[in-house]
Amino acid sequence: MPYKILNNIAVKDTSSVDLTSAKTSLLVITINKDTLKDADFKALDKASKGFLKNSISSHLKDEGSSLLLPKVNGIEAESIMMVKALNADAPLHKWLGSLKSITKQANKLKAKDISLLLSSSLPEGKDIFWMIENSAKTIESNAYIFTETKNKTVKNPTLKKLVIYGNDFSGANLKKAKDSAKKGFAIGEGVNTAKYLGDLPANHATPKIIEKKVKAMTKDFPNLKVKSFNEKDLAKMGMGSYLSVSKGSDEPPRMMVIEYKGGKATEKPIALVGKGITFDTGGVSLKPPQGMDEMKWDMCGAATVFGVMSTLARLNAKVNVVGIMACAENMCSAKATKPGDVVTSMSGQTIEILNTDAEGRLVLCDALTYVGKYKPKYVIDMATLTGAVVVALGRHASGVMANDQHLADMIIASGEESGDRAWQLPLWDEHQSCTNTSYADLANIGGGREAGTIHAAAFLSKFTTDYKWAHIDIAATASHSTPVKEGTGRPVPLISELLLSKKL
Ligand code: BES
Ligand code: MN
Ligand code: ZN
Repeated sequence: MPYKILNNIAVKDTSSVDLTSAKTSLLVITINKDTLKDADFKALDKASKGFLKNSISSHLKDEGSSLLLPKVNGIEAESIMMVKALNADAPLHKWLGSLKSITKQANKLKAKDISLLLSSSLPEGKDIFWMIENSAKTIESNAYIFTETKNKTVKNPTLKKLVIYGNDFSGANLKKAKDSAKKGFAIGEGVNTAKYLGDLPANHATPKIIEKKVKAMTKDFPNLKVKSFNEKDLAKMGMGSYLSVSKGSDEPPRMMVIEYKGGKATEKPIALVGKGITFDTGGVSLKPPQGMDEMKWDMCGAATVFGVMSTLARLNAKVNVVGIMACAENMCSAKATKPGDVVTSMSGQTIEILNTDAEGRLVLCDALTYVGKYKPKYVIDMATLTGAVVVALGRHASGVMANDQHLADMIIASGEESGDRAWQLPLWDEHQSCTNTSYADLANIGGGREAGTIHAAAFLSKFTTDYKWAHIDIAATASHSTPVKEGTGRPVPLISELLLSKKL
C-alpha cells in the first residue's frame, strides 16, 4: 500500500518491558508532575545516574516544551526526547501539535521507530484511549513525505514503527488500547491517502489516472466495490451540467462510485460526495496566474472520499457507506463552455453558466442527483468550492451548511472530537433568490460579492431536496500554502470520526 507509512503500531504495558534496554531510535518520554514518582521513569533515571531528572529541572520548564538528548549512557535508545505535558485545559490543536512535532523530529533524525511513553496528562474531557488513537493517527499522518515526482532529491520516510507504552494497560484496557491504536492508524492511513492524491501534480492525477488508483484499491480491500462511469455513461444519465465542465479538456471525466457494506443489509447508506476537479483553470472565465498551481488540490473532496473509504475498509467498520468521486478537469479551449451557455442537469433543471470558474457546483449537482438513487440516510458533500470560505472562516475551520440541523451538529461535534474542526454558516430561504436568471431555471453564480460560500451551497440545495444533506466547503482546510505548500488530508479525520462513532 503506497498510502501507509508505518508498518506497525503496537501498544504495550510497561510492566512487560525494561525501557532502559529497549532498542529504539527515539524514546519519547512525556513528563508531568507525577513523572518523577513514576516507577518507569525512576528506572530510566537511575540507569542514567540522575541525568534525566537533572535535565528536566534545568532545561524543561514550559508546558509543551521539549528537549532532545543524544545517546544517554546507561540507556539503550539512540536518542531521547523529553516533552513536558500540556495543561489539561490547553486546546486540542496544541496536543495534536505536540505529537506532530515529535514526528517531525523523528523524521529529521531519520529515526526508524518511535517508542512513546505516555504520561497521565490528558486534554480535558478526553481519556487515555483518545490519546492513544490520536497519537497513532497524528504520527502516521505526519510521517508522510511526498516522494512520487522526485528522482534525484528523493527523501523517503524512514519511520516504520511506533510503540506506545503506558503503565495501566492490563486485561480489557489493553484490548481497548490496541483497538484505539488500530483506529488511529487506519485514520492516519486515510489521511495519507487523501494527501497523496492531492499532492500529485495534475498531470499525474487526471480523472483516468485516479480511476486506475481507485480500482487498484480493491486488491487491498476486496470489501470495497468500485463502479466507474465514463463520458458516455454520464451523458446517458443526462448529466449535462457535469459534462459542461470537462468539455474544454482533452482529459475525459470519470465518476467513481465506491460501495462499502459493513452494516446490516437493511440499513440505508450514508453517502459521501466529493468534488474531484483534477485541475481548475477557471475555464473561459480564466483564473489569474498567481498561485494557480494550487488548483491541483481542487480534487480534495474526492480525495477525502477515497481516504475515508480506505479507512472504513481497513477497519471492517460496521456501517454502510457509498462514496462518489466526481472527477473532471476544468480547462479552456475552443470546445469549452462559454459564459451564458445553458445546460440541462440530470435533475431536469436548466442552468445558465454565467461563470465557468464556478464549476465545482456543476459537477456536484449531477453527482448529488445521482446519489439519490441509493435512498441515503444522509448525504454529505465535500468540496474545495469557494475562495470566499477562506475569507469567512480563515484556514482552521471547514465551512458547514445543511438542510438538517442534527447532521450539521454531528459534523461539528466530530470536528471537535478529532481536532479537525468545522463551523456552520446559515443557509436560509433568503439566500435562495440569488440563483434566479431570465434564461434558465438557475444561474450558477449569484449574490455578487456577498456570502459566496452560502450562495454556492444555496445552488446545491436545489438538488438535495429529497434527503438530509450537508455541504462542507474545504477550500481553506484541504491544503495550505504556508508554512509549506501541501495537502492536509482534511477532512478525513472529521468524516472518519463521524462514521466510526456511529453518531448518525
Ligand atoms: N476551486 C475554486 C475555489 C478555491 C479557491 C479553492 C481557492 C481553493 C482555493 C472554485 O472552483 C472557484 O473557482 N470558485 C470561485 C467561485 C466564483 C466564480 C463564484 C471563487 O471562489 O472565486
Ligand atoms: Mn473554479
Ligand atoms: Zn474549483
